[in-house]
Amino acid sequence: PFDWYARMRETAPVRYDPERRTWDVFRYDDVKRVLDDDDVFSVDPREATDFVEPEGPGEGLILDTMLFEDPPRHDELRGVVDEWFQPRTLADREPHFRELASELLDDAVGADGRLDVVEDLAYPFPVTVIAELLGVPASDRDRFKTWSNTLVEAASDDESADAFADRQQQIQMEMAQYFLEMIEDRREDPRDDLLSVIVTAESGAGGRLSREEALGMCILLLVAGNITTTNLIANAVRCFAEADGDLFDELRGDDRALTSAVEEVLRYRSPVQAMSRVATEDVTMRGETIEAGDRIIAWLGSANRDERQFEAADAFRPDRSPNQHVGFGHGTHYCLGAPLARLEAKVGLSELLDRVENVRLADVPLQPTRSSFIYGVESLPVRYDERR
Ligand code: HEM
Repeated sequence: PFDWYARMRETAPVRYDPERRTWDVFRYDDVKRVLDDDDVFSVDPREATDFVEPEGPGEGLILDTMLFEDPPRHDELRGVVDEWFQPRTLADREPHFRELASELLDDAVGADGRLDVVEDLAYPFPVTVIAELLGVPASDRDRFKTWSNTLVEAASDDESADAFADRQQQIQMEMAQYFLEMIEDRREDPRDDLLSVIVTAESGAGGRLSREEALGMCILLLVAGNITTTNLIANAVRCFAEADGDLFDELRGDDRALTSAVEEVLRYRSPVQAMSRVATEDVTMRGETIEAGDRIIAWLGSANRDERQFEAADAFRPDRSPNQHVGFGHGTHYCLGAPLARLEAKVGLSELLDRVENVRLADVPLQPTRSSFIYGVESLPVRYDERR
């Protein structure tokens, strides 16, 4: 999409797309303005003139989450789980996360010199971590994968719009049912996990969360960090393999350099390319009038390649500094899971670097993730030499 972004930044930085009936915003400063101004640019899809109320049971749950609420409700919802995603809280769990990554890689890395970065590490690792934090069985992870994939999927040509909507609804009901049982279970038997935190916030009169909000939060936490972190790890390996020299060698054993390189992956191949907002009042940008109720797409992936903000924006520079990318968004809705995603990427990649060298991408065509706003690949087979 990067050539298209570059063209749009020059010729139509703010433009209306009559087909999708949305405004597109491409430049860094404009994207940031949209993300920062909650009053004018609401995150709530229900503000849109063309919003259609979801019908089926369980369909609207994801709307009852912090991701789609403006302040002040947003802050109350986020406050329920905020503490669990702070870097210092997560630091205590780092050794355990390392064990999880280590087990996966011990199984995958061998004398045959082949692995699939997505299947063997980038998918199972984040999903196992979030399943443990939430307190749901990691053994259900195939089911979680279908859910996450379906939720971010774009309608395709080989399926009717109705069939696509049915499938989306089916998944939402399945998730609601699943977490309803989990919540009941935790009410009887609280533990040291996020489900228990959510159940406690939901309980009783004066509870901070409604039942719908509790379910929505479980679903959001399960799906928000999966496909995204999977693609961060896979995109990282892809960037490192394509870089000049042997970046794997340079980053091995150097956590600072690795951390900086991961930030550059977030900029250069942002797993989340776009976020959506709705104008709450008429607003003018670059001479265009966006009307109240119009939907707006803020193209993070384009902002992150804007040459007005980044020197040599189309070059992957693992030691880039400063690097004020918007890969995790900006402002009120700045990614709650950013510290977790960063930690997972650091731990997963450093465990991989410890075990392999001379990493090459296998000579097969890469299949892009089937989503309109997630950037990554379905699988990433690589060849390597095992380190001993
Ligand atoms: C919000 C990206 C990982 C949970 C966001 C937003 C972005 C983003 C761009 C802003 C949404 C908006 O402005 O409308 C990413 C990327 C990730 C990642 C690129 C991995 C590389 C995670 C993880 C979790 C998570 C691991 C948690 C388990 C959330 C939540 C929000 C959010 C709950 C909503 C925050 C709010 O509305 O206040 N993420 N995310 N994300 N993310 Fe992430």
